[in-house]
Amino acid sequence: MDKKRILTGDRTTGRLHLGHYAGSLQNRIKLQDKYDTFILLADVQALTTHFKNPDLISDSIYRVAIDNLSAGLNPEKITLVQQSQIAAIAELTVFYSMLVSVNSLRHNPTIKTEARQYGYDELTYGFLGYPVSQAADITFCNADLVPVGEDQIPHIEQARKIVRRFNDLYGKGKEIIREPEALLSSTPRLAGLDGGSKMGKSLGNAIYLDDDAETVASKVMAAVTDKNRITAVDKGNPGICTVFTYHSTFNPEECENICNMCKNAKIGCVACKKQLYEKLNTLLEPIREKIAYYEMNRAKVREYIEAGSAKANQIGNQTMERVKEAMKILML
Ligand code: TRP
Repeated sequence: MDKKRILTGDRTTGRLHLGHYAGSLQNRIKLQDKYDTFILLADVQALTTHFKNPDLISDSIYRVAIDNLSAGLNPEKITLVQQSQIAAIAELTVFYSMLVSVNSLRHNPTIKTEARQYGYDELTYGFLGYPVSQAADITFCNADLVPVGEDQIPHIEQARKIVRRFNDLYGKGKEIIREPEALLSSTPRLAGLDGGSKMGKSLGNAIYLDDDAETVASKVMAAVTDKNRITAVDKGNPGICTVFTYHSTFNPEECENICNMCKNAKIGCVACKKQLYEKLNTLLEPIREKIAYYEMNRAKVREYIEAGSAKANQIGNQTMERVKEAMKILML
């Protein structure tokens, strides 16, 4: 009965793509039986970059939930949590903010990369502080483990530091807040089909889970391959080919064969890409169908989110009782 709890989540800034599928969704699907799984729809964290676009954020609460369920998470097993509806997250964020130095946030490598990527002239307080609110996301429900990719590791480290500091200061030897641990996803980050280091919504190089078959085909056909391979008679170098990394991720059974054929100029890039998009379309077809089903039945999705958030609030309120008692934040 006593399963360990995991919490992980996505910012609600649009549909999820194949990078999410390879890097996190697949992993979550595997973990959901073994762990008590909480999936956070991070609509407050979405504001840190998309505060000018509330319509997108609010619609994406559905989209992100639907993409998670359609990829294979079971709504009867997991708990879907809408971040903005959890009072404990907001309160903990404020309390934790006293325990974090501005310098440690400024030196957080993921914050640095993302700030550059979004081209911020002026970093907002909210963006700089999102690792603090993420620490609240993780700890309000006593999560034991946080399944994440490499880029989130600095945030989990930050959360662990906050928890230790909190327990040291206010716990008097007792654990008030549970210290979480990262559960690093074993799959490396999926490169962008444009040859960029990462598939990303804001990078304009993403294949979405609900892209139709023709869109997937044309995106794959436009992908960058080994630039030194000009014609099909040239021998290719799969080691530097983005399309090949997709074969290793999504077509593991055939990838050794493709690798050898490419090295010996026995398969051209067009044929190789065709094999890839056919494989991707086979993978995506049932997911697309489920997305279409849930899109028609958003009311049902809403019920899952409401029930999950209500359950999360109960747990969060218990956490806040412990926290406020330890911090002596009580009505006089
Ligand atoms: N920052 C995460 C991302 O961009 C999303 C997220 C928000 C998250 N809160 C979380 C992940 C808590 C793990 C745990 O992918």
